[in-house]
Amino acid sequence: MIITSSQLQQAVKILKQGGLVAFPTETVYGLGADACQEEAITKIFEAKKRPFDHPLIVHIADVSQLSAWAQEVPEMAFKLAQAFWPGPLTLILKKKPTVLSSLTAGQETVGLRIPAHPVAQALLQAFGGGIAAPSANQFTHVSPTTAQAVVEELGDRVDLILEGGTCEVGVESTILDLSRHQPIILRPGMITASALETALNMPILAAEQAETSVRAPGRHHLHYAPRTKTILIKTENITAFLATLTAEDYPIALLSYHSFNVALTHPIHYVKMPSDALSFAHQLYHQLRLLDHQQFKSIVIENVPHGEEWTAIRDRLRKASGSVDFGENSP
Ligand code: TXA
Ligand code: MG
Repeated sequence: MIITSSQLQQAVKILKQGGLVAFPTETVYGLGADACQEEAITKIFEAKKRPFDHPLIVHIADVSQLSAWAQEVPEMAFKLAQAFWPGPLTLILKKKPTVLSSLTAGQETVGLRIPAHPVAQALLQAFGGGIAAPSANQFTHVSPTTAQAVVEELGDRVDLILEGGTCEVGVESTILDLSRHQPIILRPGMITASALETALNMPILAAEQAETSVRAPGRHHLHYAPRTKTILIKTENITAFLATLTAEDYPIALLSYHSFNVALTHPIHYVKMPSDALSFAHQLYHQLRLLDHQQFKSIVIENVPHGEEWTAIRDRLRKASGSVDFGENSP
């Protein structure tokens, strides 16, 4: 175990007193507070400068706690819990009336997740209750995948940061809304639609396919974004794009999973990414953060393959690049 019992006790004490504890999960680091304390929840929004209309996810230790938060726990939730929890899946369920509306941003639903990281597990078990935790970054910025990144994002706005190494998954959980007549993915993650469909033995909608009264997270222009201008380009157009750059466009960084051989008058800082989706996701935010610290005029990213295992990564890259998006790769 990478956490001592005295650190654990200190963390629980801070949470009980209404303070903020950042902790590792297998996806990204979370900024945690007691999900039953109004003032503690307010502190999360203030520390992140997050608008109050963005609801928080509640982290719990055990499936038996679902009924403390959800009005009804549908059979589907138990099936998914069995298949994917603890793990990178968040379920949206109808909330109990007792759940604070500041937590759910006034919605009648609540997001719930059992994280797999041993430190998160230890914390949840020692605390006993639900821990509200968004990603531990400033609103719209890249989520932290190391404790050091949490320090950069939040500094002394957080009372304690629990160290838990580098997050294994590296992008945020899949969010599945079970509060409607049909399950809908509100945010893709590394647990894919097919994996969910297999576990449930029924079709699942992606948010884009659903009627869009659905509140899809991160729909914001420039969510999950570095501060440096970030440009997303499909593979076949990279070489041509690079050829159009002039002296004042440099220095740039190129994040790609291919090697590009172009005759260039200016050097490019080239970051070779893995060509499998799991390793790519694991590294993505860390690499974006490293590049953001350097003085590049832009970060150019090769768009990733079309396959389903890349869906979450494609989604985050599109959001990181905002409007500067030059297309997707073909199937
Ligand atoms: O992997 C994760 O999910 C990480 C770790 C820390 O657990 N957490 C995370 O939280 O990404 P956050 O707050 O950064 O993103 C959660 C998203 C938000 O965009 C929020 O709008 C959405 O989930 N959400 C939360 N509760 C919801 C609800 N009741 N209905 C619809 N969307 C909800
Ligand atoms: Mg977030």
